[in-house]
Amino acid sequence: MMVLVIGSGGREHAIAWKLSESLKVQQVYVAPGNGGTALSNTLINVPVTDIVALRQWAQSEGIGLTVVGPEAPLAAGVVDEFRAHGLRIFGPTLGAAQLESSKAFSKAFMQRHGIPTARFETFTDADLAHAHVDRIGVPIVVKADGLAAGKGVVVAQTLAEAHEAIDFMLLDNRLGVTHNAGGARVVIEEFLQGEEASFICVCNGTEALALATSQDHKRLLDEDQGPNTGGMGAYSPAPVVTPEVHARAMRQVILPTLQGMMKEGLPFSGFLYAGLMIDAQGQPKTLEFNCRLGDPETQPILMRLRSDLFDLLWNATESPEALAAHEPQWDRRPALGVVAAAHGYPMDPRKGDLISNLPADHPDCMVFHAGTREQNGQVYTHGGRVLCVTALGESVRAAQSLAYQTLSGIHFDGMQYRRDIGHRAVR
Ligand code: AMP
Ligand code: GLY
Repeated sequence: MMVLVIGSGGREHAIAWKLSESLKVQQVYVAPGNGGTALSNTLINVPVTDIVALRQWAQSEGIGLTVVGPEAPLAAGVVDEFRAHGLRIFGPTLGAAQLESSKAFSKAFMQRHGIPTARFETFTDADLAHAHVDRIGVPIVVKADGLAAGKGVVVAQTLAEAHEAIDFMLLDNRLGVTHNAGGARVVIEEFLQGEEASFICVCNGTEALALATSQDHKRLLDEDQGPNTGGMGAYSPAPVVTPEVHARAMRQVILPTLQGMMKEGLPFSGFLYAGLMIDAQGQPKTLEFNCRLGDPETQPILMRLRSDLFDLLWNATESPEALAAHEPQWDRRPALGVVAAAHGYPMDPRKGDLISNLPADHPDCMVFHAGTREQNGQVYTHGGRVLCVTALGESVRAAQSLAYQTLSGIHFDGMQYRRDIGHRAVR
């Protein structure tokens, strides 16, 4: 079987690496891929990103299964395009991907179907948004409605920050948010307290199989300071997801979401990622939905997957029954990944810094590439999040020390990384 992975981040490097381990997979292609997938002996990069061109290429190469990594091609309808031509692809359609691509859609959907989430209101008018913030007070959360690579959310601790965020998102749009129909819009929501976890399921229609849980670190700096980013590190499993919390997440969030989507004529297939905020009583509320795997959560999750990822995704694209019959096997050891980001990330990442001393792959420690580019055997920074060094260990602490020890040997100018990934689990 020939398999195609769409995307170029650390998540896609990890998906492609894991798929290439399957005995049923002859060749994994990555479009467009990155420096790490270019250097790998088992992966081949394909320099195509246009959706129609990708579909034509997949047809001409006889690709048997396509897996989509990022949200942008999903929101642009890559699944609809492939399916319309009889190609097998794992991911939601354009309509179903609105769960992620539009905060306004997903918040209203959760309200319609009684899925626990923060109270909210949606605004297109900056004056009304400012007045609302003045009425409610802080802390309060301001979110851009549209895809913003995880950077369109401001958790405001002061009124000044909240007002600035509204102007920033509605008037200036310096974040590069892709607006949905109707133009710039913000969702202003209640601040929730608790601990976050990433709860990701493989879905087909109303059937869901939960992957190992994980926890991301969204802020740029140690002790959860600094701006939100796409994610600076993650580990799996997340101890905050106890068996009770797990059961509630399935019963109150995932299953009603799948049933609601089915009822609304938008059956959901693909990875459904619920970003949960879990309060002191173990009650989860949904912060957001993503319709894809998390990055960097995928890297530690897939390090722990012992069974065949190709089988899992093949079954998931076969039928709800085949998915329900699939039993994944997990390494009982935790895994932890630390992201090394470029100088200037997240606002203005610098490209072109030479990366040196990259170690060889090891079953217990992998360096997944994200924003990297290979040229004549050398690797250069080429995006905000550059690498994710991911290790398995007997404990979170052991995984953490192996990841940091490996990272300390790698060098590029301007490298930034957090020193405290996993801190909640090693206390
Ligand atoms: P989102 O992209 O919606 O997941 O938001 C990014 C990050 O902002 C989340 O991972 C949380 O850390 C934080 N956040 C979002 N919404 C809320 C909320 N209602 N209350 C507290 N923190 C939030
Ligand atoms: N790490 C967060 C995300 O992938 O959305």
